[in-house]
Amino acid sequence: MDYNPIIVPLDVPDRDAAMALVERLTASVGAFKIGKELFVNAGPAIVREVRATGADVFLDLKFHDIPNTVAGAVRAATRLDVQMLTIHSSGGRDMMSAAENAAQEESRNSEQSLPLVLGVTVLTSMDTGDINEVGVDGDVTAQVKRLAKLASTSGLRGLVCSPMEIELLRAEISREVKLVTPGIRPASSDIQDQKRVMTPAQAVQAGADWLVIGRPITLADDPVSAAKAIVDSL
Ligand code: C5P
Repeated sequence: MDYNPIIVPLDVPDRDAAMALVERLTASVGAFKIGKELFVNAGPAIVREVRATGADVFLDLKFHDIPNTVAGAVRAATRLDVQMLTIHSSGGRDMMSAAENAAQEESRNSEQSLPLVLGVTVLTSMDTGDINEVGVDGDVTAQVKRLAKLASTSGLRGLVCSPMEIELLRAEISREVKLVTPGIRPASSDIQDQKRVMTPAQAVQAGADWLVIGRPITLADDPVSAAKAIVDSL
């Protein structure tokens, strides 16, 4: 790989803890993910501060709303100069194409780089029973496939998926679509609360473009060496 595919989630509640991780790891990883907890606590300022170090940012706020509202949020994220952001594919075709168009338009108008708008299919916290209960018939795999195809034909250039879905999606959708995958554990590490994991090398082999890897790096005695060992394993 000619780029560093590791994205470290800043799964911490506040600015100081986040910036400590960024300063420590920025030279050894490809990007940092900012999710709802940190964003709600520290606001857009934390995105600007991480970007100001030169690090790439994945803004994982999983937007899901009417197309006009999501488009506005995507424009704002594009002005913050994030490199990736997430929306829920279950928001439908119009919402997804509004999001992608908003990113493209705003990046042209504001001369910021174009962020990769990623579709989230079915949350891995939901199984077939859970999706049936909210009115979706069929099993999780069929629903993941359906939403991934819809995302791709709505113009999205990337998807978030579990390691177990990489092969399926690589068989079903264009190779152009980037896949970002959490649930990654190096062979030697504790799987914690993750249930179905792959090693970094297995996930890349299966077709993942980016790997979200948190605790195996952030909780290691030496996070920098842990990140380097993962890059070397690829
Ligand atoms: O520490 P760990 O490597 O498990 O962190 C994985 C990150 O990816 C966390 O931020 C978690 O919320 C996120 N994530 C996940 N599984 C999903 C979607 C997101 O682990 N299906």
